[in-house]
Amino acid sequence: MFGRKSIITVLTTSMLLSAGVVYAQTTNAANAQSVTAFDNKIIKKISADNMYNTIKYLSAVPREAGTEGEVRGVEYIESQFKSLGLETRRIPFPIYDYKTNSQLAEVDGVNLNGRAFSGSGSGNVTAELVNVGKATTGEVTDAVAGKIALVARGDIAFVDKVKNVFAKGAVGVLMYNNASGAFTGQANGELPAVGITREQGLNLVEKLKNGPVTATLNVDIQKIEKTSFVVEAKLKPNKNKDTGQIVTIGSHHDSVPNGPGANDDASGVSAVLELARIFVNTPIDTEVRFLTFGSEERGMVGSSFYVSQLPQSDIDRMVAHFQMDMIGGAEAGEDHPLGGLIMYTIDGQKNLVTDLGASATSRLYDVAIPYGQLGRSDHQPFHDVGIPSALFIHSPVEPQYHKPTDTIDHISKEKLQQATSTVGAAAYQIIRPDTPALERAHVAPATVNYDYENRPVD
Ligand code: BES
Ligand code: ZN
Repeated sequence: MFGRKSIITVLTTSMLLSAGVVYAQTTNAANAQSVTAFDNKIIKKISADNMYNTIKYLSAVPREAGTEGEVRGVEYIESQFKSLGLETRRIPFPIYDYKTNSQLAEVDGVNLNGRAFSGSGSGNVTAELVNVGKATTGEVTDAVAGKIALVARGDIAFVDKVKNVFAKGAVGVLMYNNASGAFTGQANGELPAVGITREQGLNLVEKLKNGPVTATLNVDIQKIEKTSFVVEAKLKPNKNKDTGQIVTIGSHHDSVPNGPGANDDASGVSAVLELARIFVNTPIDTEVRFLTFGSEERGMVGSSFYVSQLPQSDIDRMVAHFQMDMIGGAEAGEDHPLGGLIMYTIDGQKNLVTDLGASATSRLYDVAIPYGQLGRSDHQPFHDVGIPSALFIHSPVEPQYHKPTDTIDHISKEKLQQATSTVGAAAYQIIRPDTPALERAHVAPATVNYDYENRPVD
């Protein structure tokens, strides 16, 4: 059997051959290709009006994870998938909110007016302070065992700093800012963790040079469990023509708290539903899973959960993940070609998904869109288990990003149409029945030149 890596190698080789090895050339002119009958089978059916209506419905109510608003969105998405006859599942997973009842950080009896981290543990500890710098793995030693770690903000995530000192036996975290003012970090309930100002922190660093310093942390935090969801809809291939491979097409249905999230990411959901509507009536030889994730805005919790519950045998069969997040922003993309549509990968490398995406825009719009390096969405957990994946987004993002103004009136139907056509045409190259499996894809589309671009996204 071919593993996933050899599948890509062979596909790329066949693409190069059929393209007459145009790979070395650098201009887009060398990419000139045109829309195929295969493309037309998909793109002619895509209705931006359908997508617009989906966004309108979803963005009427904020969809913060764990709220009634998320459930309303999930019910809608689920009902759409079910009405298409798809095998649909609502997959629940827990998320946690933290309510701070009391918080205190004291040194030598002086209250530092600190702020407990969201997700700080509860407890009342008095112990010596130990300066652990930025608490990177190398910096934290056993000297912190039984002590309170004095930590500088910066370079690595809050949660990783807390994890590193907890692993060495610390009983508390006192973290100082790297900018002016107060701040609140995140932790996972391991131990009391409180944030103080940069000035206070630097004073303590000096004080420690003259001898031991004792601190007290007293935190009372309530952990509240809520439920968020992933919606999964499976489209099975024709039984007599099944490559055994799986393609996933995803978006996130949650919004930021109180955000209408029309573009972020009702737009992506509308594209997932639209492609589902079209693919159910199109013969295919590859399973397609349409996915909408909850709790992306809390750190890709839904997509991480989804990937974590997959049997390894499914992961082994997954050959491509297409993530659509923010694909309709009228004011996104500045003057870049195709409204600023770009494909971001986690490692900044091309892969099967970006090859097919660039090739699709080259055929459809005479421009090979670039790729770049960025996480910040649900393609991350798929990449982490070795599935070729990319985020399709207009970059730079629009000024309404994460604001109450991320509403339907800033959505462009043209951008919806282009981004969805791109992903639809790209995915169809894998799932259409005359390409029996990627490793035997004689009729795979020619590859094109497309460039790496280091484009600031916001
Ligand atoms: N849709 C955004 C992703 C995004 C926004 C990418 C702006 C690039 C630029 C996503 O919903 C988001 O806001 N992600 C969070 C990170 C997440 C892991 C909490 C972000 O980028 O802050
Ligand atoms: Zn988003």
